[in-house]
Amino acid sequence: MNKMADRNAETEKIINLWVEGGSDFAYYEKADSADWVNGFWNEDSLFARNFSQLNTEFTLEIACGAGRHSERFIDNTKHIWLLDTSEAGLALAEKRLSPRSNFTTVHHPSGYGIPDIIQPESLTAVFSYDAMVHFEYDCVIAYVNDSYKALKPGGMALFHHSNYDKNPGGTIDQNPSWRNFMSQSFFKHIAKRAGFNVIGSYVFPWVNTEITDCLTLLKK
Ligand SMILES: C[S@@+](CC[C@H](N)C(=O)[O-])C[C@H]1O[C@@H](n2cnc3c(N)ncnc32)[C@H](O)[C@@H]1O
Repeated sequence: MNKMADRNAETEKIINLWVEGGSDFAYYEKADSADWVNGFWNEDSLFARNFSQLNTEFTLEIACGAGRHSERFIDNTKHIWLLDTSEAGLALAEKRLSPRSNFTTVHHPSGYGIPDIIQPESLTAVFSYDAMVHFEYDCVIAYVNDSYKALKPGGMALFHHSNYDKNPGGTIDQNPSWRNFMSQSFFKHIAKRAGFNVIGSYVFPWVNTEITDCLTLLKK
């Protein structure tokens, strides 16, 4: 399948925000602030409580950016694959995680689906934080479908995705916190069609009171 040709044209604009010189490249440095990172990793956070259910022995992080999340658990895993469309983001992740040898960075320019370097039924966990919220719906579908294929039976996936469905056909710059069009129920539908069981799905606000975000835990 020609994944590059199949993807939505809007996806290219989104990818370009975080390539070197992209308009949000400064995100990588800003996102390392303790407040921001702790929101994902404090023991009592929604993210950490769900993450603790994953077997992280062989994990794929989709849209890892500069690797601030994988850094938190890499020393307790056998291997992590860090996938991103931004080569410069991955270079920062390599610098951060070096000199460990139990990780592989995967530069994935098309940003659509999981590339063949990840073998079918090879992973125990897949996750993505603070990135899929921006992705086009077709990109989300491709990653969810391919995650199911890449997981071993019993493997789990944890996805932070958008719950903003108020502007169909719009673009992320028109939406709060650059959330793309998605909803909790549409995401559950995508996941179930892929073959997953939905273990839990939780909606929450991001910067203001609007319930724009969702965290969904899936099991193969
Ligand atoms: C807001 S940053 C979040 C990075 C990381 N998840 C974190 O929390 O630090 C969004 C990331 O998604 C990546 N990205 C954008 N579109 C993508 C796609 N279609 N597939 C994979 N990565 C993508 C960008 O390069 C960027 O690193």
